[in-house]
Amino acid sequence: MEELHGVSLSTMKSIAIVNQKGGVGKTTITLGIAEAATAYGLNVLVVDLDPQANASSGLGIWNGAPSIDDVMCEARAGSALDAICTSRWPEDGPVPDLIPGSHLLASREPLLAADPVGAQDRLRLALAGVSHDLVLIDCPPSLGLLSINGLFAADRAVIVTEPAAWAADGVDLMHNTVERVSGRLGTPRLSGIVANRVGRTRDNRYWSEQLEERFGTLLLPQIQLRAAIAEASGQSTTLRALGKRPGATEAASQFDALWVELSSDLGFNESNGRPEAAFETPSTTIDS
Ligand SMILES: Nc1ncnc2c1ncn2[C@@H]1O[C@H](COP(=O)(O)OP(=O)(O)OP(=O)(O)O)[C@@H](O)[C@H]1O
Ligand SMILES: [Mg+2]
Repeated sequence: MEELHGVSLSTMKSIAIVNQKGGVGKTTITLGIAEAATAYGLNVLVVDLDPQANASSGLGIWNGAPSIDDVMCEARAGSALDAICTSRWPEDGPVPDLIPGSHLLASREPLLAADPVGAQDRLRLALAGVSHDLVLIDCPPSLGLLSINGLFAADRAVIVTEPAAWAADGVDLMHNTVERVSGRLGTPRLSGIVANRVGRTRDNRYWSEQLEERFGTLLLPQIQLRAAIAEASGQSTTLRALGKRPGATEAASQFDALWVELSSDLGFNESNGRPEAAFETPSTTIDS
């Protein structure tokens, strides 16, 4: 089993959800994948790496403590373990775990830059010993050290974009950053690009075709623009819990389709999405 700073890494898989462009749907896609993967039977942990802490609010946690800022303030293997809490999604449905975000992270980023050794892999080190099947890292809208920490901690990256003017240029920039990190580390690999908020306007169709032309096979199953998706996040609940709300079932199915593709890329098996390796007893021994 791979080790980092003397700590045995578990068999968990991690995905960083990224784009330096704001408001494209990173948090929404993170929550949608979290819902789908948990519903498929996985033990899922969402890491809210954005000072805006929207993923935490979407999971029903405000001002959670300890937070990701406590995790990132020290370079300690396994420090994330102390900050994991259960989200507040309805108990009769999928309930992932969370490391809560914090606005304090905004001032943590410049402090990280002052660490000559561990500025980029502090989150990776912190997650050592986490035994969840899947860790989803919701990154902030920037190419700064927080997003870089997200990429350093991830097996895969998913770039979220929308069918809108100039979106493709932003995707190229992010793709290039993912490749620069994986060139050094071997990970993360780009799972693909999710076109989110795909609507039916002529403008939307035009830009969707542009994304298709430019990125072709890199495109993952898309997520349509639906009021139910914004409602679920706004009400800190799941699409499944919205029940008969128009569009909720269709939206949940689209996230399921996205998860099925991501899970096969991650090597999870078909029945419940668990990785074969997760049947081994994961080691959570921290010895440094
Ligand atoms: N497919 C969708 N259908 C409807 N509304 C959506 C969809 N995706 C995202 N939204 C809404 O768009 C807004 C921005 O989404 P979100 O917060 O997920 O973007 P983000 O990339 O995480 O933003 P930031 O860069 O600020 O972190 C939110 O109000 C969200 O509810
Ligand atoms: Mg966000």
